Amino acid sequence: MFMSESSARNENSERVPTGISGLDEMLGGGLLSNSVAVVKGAPGTGKSCIGMEYIAKGIRDYGEPGLIITFEEFPRQLYRDALSIGFDLREFERRDQLRTIFTTPAVFLREIQQPGGIFDRTIEEISVKRVFVDSMTQLERITQDPVELREIMYTFLNGLLRYNITAVVTQEDAYITGNMSVAEAGLSYIVDTIIQLRYVEISSSVDRAIFVLKHRASDHDKRIRRMSITSQGVRVEEAFEGREGILTGNPSVSRRVRRAEEFLK
Ligand SMILES: Nc1ncnc2c1ncn2[C@@H]1O[C@H](COP(=O)(O)OP(=O)(O)OP(=O)(O)O)[C@@H](O)[C@H]1O
Ligand SMILES: [Mg+2]
Repeated sequence: MFMSESSARNENSERVPTGISGLDEMLGGGLLSNSVAVVKGAPGTGKSCIGMEYIAKGIRDYGEPGLIITFEEFPRQLYRDALSIGFDLREFERRDQLRTIFTTPAVFLREIQQPGGIFDRTIEEISVKRVFVDSMTQLERITQDPVELREIMYTFLNGLLRYNITAVVTQEDAYITGNMSVAEAGLSYIVDTIIQLRYVEISSSVDRAIFVLKHRASDHDKRIRRMSITSQGVRVEEAFEGREGILTGNPSVSRRVRRAEEFLK
């Protein structure tokens, strides 16, 4: 089964730094080699930015060729979004350090199970080490049946991990019921690392928050940290000190801080 394979894979607990400022520190050095991490969040929280920067930094700072599989954005849009955070993906492609596959989930699922298919060829041709999939939510277009969907996700991720690569995938939060959707629960169970992004409202402005929900076989930062996106890329900053209810998206000053403020009045 996937679980035991996953622990066998991660036995050496070798780290793959994301290169994203502050995030590797949260992850105790980085992602686990030959594992899958999911970045979850609502639309616009920065999931794609994190994935693109993971690939770009891998190429630029660690000499690790990358593959981006996108079910969502035309390559042109992807290049534009990456440029806005400071990375020229087109240049990496020209130098054969990056490949981009833009396809549908159903077609890719077939390819990934087919020896010598486009996935195998791409991985081998440029010795891909890092893979970014945007997004797993699109797999839900293949089937509505929860058991089948989980099977598909399992096949998909196992297909990726046949090679010695480390993958970051994205998934949209389903807020409708307030609970995790079946797809979210299924994916959360089979991935090694879960990174959650949230919007939080503080004093009438909206901030970005990031936290690590799960990091298999490893300790990690349990705090909820601020995150920013600029033309220089993604940056994980300090923890939200003295705030309660960050996870509700509507935090208030904690009782401890309020008491201190009243005391100082
Ligand atoms: N140079 C920049 N400076 C400031 N903010 C930026 C910059 N580039 C992108 N952003 C912000 O990043 C956010 C988009 O992030 P991203 O596309 O990674 O979100 P996402 O979670 O993938 O969303 P979706 O679910 O819609 O795909 C936008 O809110 C945008 O305002
Ligand atoms: Mg996106």
